[in-house]
Amino acid sequence: MPELRAVHGDITTLEVDAIVNAANNTLLGGGGVDGAIHRAAGQQLLQACRKLGGCHTGEARLTPGFELPARYVIHTVGPVFKDGTRGEPDLLRACYRHSLELAQQHDLKSIAFPAISTGAYRYPPLQAARIAVDEVSSALVDMPSLETVIFCCFSERHLEIYEKLLEPLNA
Ligand code: APR
Repeated sequence: MPELRAVHGDITTLEVDAIVNAANNTLLGGGGVDGAIHRAAGQQLLQACRKLGGCHTGEARLTPGFELPARYVIHTVGPVFKDGTRGEPDLLRACYRHSLELAQQHDLKSIAFPAISTGAYRYPPLQAARIAVDEVSSALVDMPSLETVIFCCFSERHLEIYEKLLEPLNA
């Protein structure tokens, strides 16, 4: 079983094979982690994203990391949370699964996720983290090449949530 861990920090600083971006359907940048990744990667990232022609919610697309320490960026678009009965859980699961599938296809060894949809898209952090940890741990069973998955938490609160959920898995 690959190593699953939570860290507190800025995902743009992580030296992993791929960091995941919580983007929007245009893939043309935005605020939050999307803005941070585009600022750190430089202009070439936007140029590369322009060629992708957008991304459906729940899907994932890969670009180089350019000026980031990470080799690649996997852009995924999370659902906007309404009340949890509009398909949001399945779409959020799909973000994690499709990002891991892309990493596996490119034989990547390490990947870091932000807490997708828990900022501007208003997904309740604990519900989102449960989906993230559950989907990642079950998807990894069939992904032998992946060695390390990091949940990069921008706040202490998110870190506590993820550490509690990961405890039984790492026991
Ligand atoms: N590193 C790690 N996590 C970060 C960083 C960072 N540098 N900056 C923000 N975050 C965290 C937020 O604290 C939140 O927990 O990422 C999580 C996702 O929040 P958002 O970035 O707001 O993303 P999301 O809720 O998925 O909304 C996406 O916001 O920025 C726009 O273009 C984006 O329209 C899209 C929407």
